[in-house]
Amino acid sequence: MPSVFIKTYGCQMNERDSEAVAAQLVAKGYTLAPSEAVADVILLNTCSVRDFAEKKAVGKMQNIAADVRKNRPDVVLGFLGCMAQSRGQELIDKLPDVDLVLGTQKFHHAADYLDEILAGRRDKIVDVAAEQGSEATIREHLLYGKVAKNGDGHKPPPPVTAFVSIMQGCNQRCTFCIVPDTRGEERSRGIADIVAECRQLVSRGVKEITLLGQIVTSYGKRDGVAVGVTPAVEPGVTPGGSTPGSSKRLEISHIVPGGKMPPSTAGGTPAATSPFVQLLDAVHEIEGLERIRFTAPHPKGYGDDLIEAYARLHKLVESAHLPVQSGSDRVLKLMHRGYTRERFLGIVKKLRRAKPDISITTDIIVGFPGETEDDFEQTLSLAREVEFDNAYIFKYSPRRDTPAAGMPDQVPLKIREERNHRLLETINEIGKRKYEAFIGRRTQILVEGPSKKNPARMTGRTRCNKIVVFEGSDRHRGQLLDVKITRAGSFTLYGDPAIVNL
Ligand code: 5AD
Repeated sequence: MPSVFIKTYGCQMNERDSEAVAAQLVAKGYTLAPSEAVADVILLNTCSVRDFAEKKAVGKMQNIAADVRKNRPDVVLGFLGCMAQSRGQELIDKLPDVDLVLGTQKFHHAADYLDEILAGRRDKIVDVAAEQGSEATIREHLLYGKVAKNGDGHKPPPPVTAFVSIMQGCNQRCTFCIVPDTRGEERSRGIADIVAECRQLVSRGVKEITLLGQIVTSYGKRDGVAVGVTPAVEPGVTPGGSTPGSSKRLEISHIVPGGKMPPSTAGGTPAATSPFVQLLDAVHEIEGLERIRFTAPHPKGYGDDLIEAYARLHKLVESAHLPVQSGSDRVLKLMHRGYTRERFLGIVKKLRRAKPDISITTDIIVGFPGETEDDFEQTLSLAREVEFDNAYIFKYSPRRDTPAAGMPDQVPLKIREERNHRLLETINEIGKRKYEAFIGRRTQILVEGPSKKNPARMTGRTRCNKIVVFEGSDRHRGQLLDVKITRAGSFTLYGDPAIVNL
């Protein structure tokens, strides 16, 4: 059988999509190649959020294509995901060596299309059409992590953490963002279906699940009753997992989008909960699951029910990624974000009241069209006021067919770079202080496996999503451990092995 190498650009949703494609191909008998140099099929799963990400993927494919043309003409090349969706046939016109262009609603067809190409039945395939029900197709997981099963039969151990896609698409129409075009309209999977997938993962040893979507706080809001009627299809985790039909499964009748939980099932749930909080409640019931995370929410979606869920659901960890984008009301309005600086600060305050130790991270765009020095200063002051644990900073990048790309007063690159640099300094300085405050504290970590930088050491994460490196061994994998923090590096903590071994 052929071997495949998938390179992923961009967000965690893309990582998850790639994993699902890899699992689909492995189930068909493909092996996962350790590098592109030895693969029979090379797929690039792309990102369109900034021009830089697109250029990187196109440049990579150009290099691969040049090599393949010269040395291995039978290798199949494909673009998947967001850039494939937004550019379609144009990619093959530009790079004629590419055989497959697969859009964001089509990942589950990858194996069939590759079969056809490899068998010589079809030459080129471009499929970027919308497909009803595609939100429920990202369900296969690689049981043995992301590493290939090698020829020597060595299997990496099953993962401790897993990502579960709960929805696709976005309807926010932020003026800078291409995602509504690349990912389509918001569509949510049913709660029972998601819970069945999570349950199977937990039965395979997963301890922590991250619920994924472009805007998870909008989960189920548009789908009405449909959220509850997606059939609970057996996810393709593995045969022999727990049955989705077990008695603990939430039934369809429990889901009342935007409405109330039936009193008989409430169990302490507040009277009115959003579909997303209903989903959190349902996942929280899974026995053996230790931690729940989610990403990414929209600040607008942080209703009191969600804040209350942090206080009520002990598996929901003290960590929130709240993309603020700007600290200036004027810019927030131009961005079409739907909240003000004050509203954002109010959410942060409520979250910290509910969970004083909660870590808050964010995304910020610098140099949005029309952003003045004063607007930027307001972003700096917001960062200082909130004291984010970390922030992803993006230089504004004009995206085609987005309103912001045509706005007046585009900010010159030099100024965008300079603001990026200044904000980064502020974020790093705050982060340093926040991380150093952990020194001497005992904290619980979930051990994920060997450290990437130094495989002789182990890493885990605190509930507030900070990486802790410590001198452990493989037997700590998957365990919840109390460690004492001895040192803080750049966005990394170091734990005391003496405490670990107690
Ligand atoms: N330019 C720069 N950053 C962007 N993002 C989204 N669109 C753009 C753009 N056009 C950033 C936002 C978002 C993150 C995933 O990417 O901060 O939260």
